Amino acid sequence: MTDPDTCDLLIQRVSLFDGSGAPPYVGDLAVIDDKIVVIGDLHNWRAREKVDGQGLALAPGFIDVHTHDDRALLIGDMANKTSQGVTSVVVGNCGISLAPLSLRAAPPPPLDLIGTQADYTYPTFAEYMDALDRQPPAVNAACLVGHSTLRVGTMDRLDRPATSDEIAAMRAKLQEALEAGAIGLSTGLDYQPAEAAPTEEVQALAQLLKPAGAIHTTHMRSEGDHVTEAMDEAFAIGKSADVPVVISHFKVHGKANFGRSVETLAKFDTQRLRQPLGLDAYPYSASSTVLKSQELSEAPKVMVTWSTPHPEATGRMLDELATEWGCSLEEAAKRLQPAGAVYFAMDEADVRRILSYPHTMIGSDGLPHDTHPHPRLWGSFPRVLGHYAREVGLFPMEEAIRRMTSLPAERFGLTGRGRLKQNYAADLVLFDPQSVKDRATFENPKQVSDGIVAVWVNGKAVWRDGRPTGARPGRALRRQQMQTALS
Ligand code: ZN
Ligand code: CU
Repeated sequence: MTDPDTCDLLIQRVSLFDGSGAPPYVGDLAVIDDKIVVIGDLHNWRAREKVDGQGLALAPGFIDVHTHDDRALLIGDMANKTSQGVTSVVVGNCGISLAPLSLRAAPPPPLDLIGTQADYTYPTFAEYMDALDRQPPAVNAACLVGHSTLRVGTMDRLDRPATSDEIAAMRAKLQEALEAGAIGLSTGLDYQPAEAAPTEEVQALAQLLKPAGAIHTTHMRSEGDHVTEAMDEAFAIGKSADVPVVISHFKVHGKANFGRSVETLAKFDTQRLRQPLGLDAYPYSASSTVLKSQELSEAPKVMVTWSTPHPEATGRMLDELATEWGCSLEEAAKRLQPAGAVYFAMDEADVRRILSYPHTMIGSDGLPHDTHPHPRLWGSFPRVLGHYAREVGLFPMEEAIRRMTSLPAERFGLTGRGRLKQNYAADLVLFDPQSVKDRATFENPKQVSDGIVAVWVNGKAVWRDGRPTGARPGRALRRQQMQTALS
């Protein structure tokens, strides 16, 4: 580049973390429209907008691989994600997706985590994808089809395996979704709507994934006492369908299982050589989902995150409520349902061991519709950068960033994203590596993190000066379109 050139956005003298895991270097980066056009010494370039990045870091926008933002994408500004530097999300995890489903009754838990009956109004996946096109979200979205959603829309009762006719009907729905651009199939075999599904039922669906270039993600049948058997089931499904499997929110749950991440990670690491596998985790030692009575024996402390009959219980501890009401924990849980909860039932040493594992991606598993959500919704990515990378020293900053950018882009097939590279999408996060830190806590969970200076999605600013800009430049990332971009 000898002549001065002109671009839309020029970020100068910034420490560039390119997403590959390589150490940062200082340079300039130019954006035209929605793409990165040049990286280097661009001091003689003209730009419609120049940003001085001295003392700051620039990275590819973070990819939140595990979310339940199906509905949030359509209705909100996604500030809980953009304020963390997240520019793309994967929705439809844990077996639950908003589509394809239209409901004539209230959704059974955990489908109620992402919407009420009135929100399940997409009988086909194409209609949901079209809604994302019509009301573009603030961030990009790659969409999974939920196995439980397919079951709820197909079966008259969920406490049994699907019949061959029902499997055929679910396969037709899954095929429609894959043709509409879904990137894969998720399961939540630990949840009531899917508990009775045998491995073979999932295998019959997963067969459709390979021709579509799609993947399988799973909230496994057990994350506690039977976690290794559950891993075997996930591996078997991936093998029989010959598709990559991502194990969601990899963890060991319950006091009796503390320390077992040594065993589960070793098992994963051996199997990784035999078939394509991935895993994600969130950086906290407490989990969150619907309030389930069967989980109470495993968790010493439980906090209520929402309750339809008892909204006043939100943010309170279950044991205190039980004492006040003069009843057992089980009885208190029953009175609160439908409800959501945070379970304090993991070992910090397991969390750190799993985060340290080189193949672990970051997925928040944030629940955007909870009244008093788990802090992972607002804090996951800055917490990995500030707490676990900078303060605890689990890994260098560039490695933390790799697990949030290029690693997930490759595993989920988000072609042309996840790196600072010419012709890649201008999904960018500008942050202060010295001060970046989560501020969301269990007591006060809806807190903007420190140190995230500006965030761009497809070249447009979505977060700046501590607030959302209101822009909605995100796109539905369709599987086929991304594959064509590749060839
Ligand atoms: Zn899950
Ligand atoms: Cu989840």
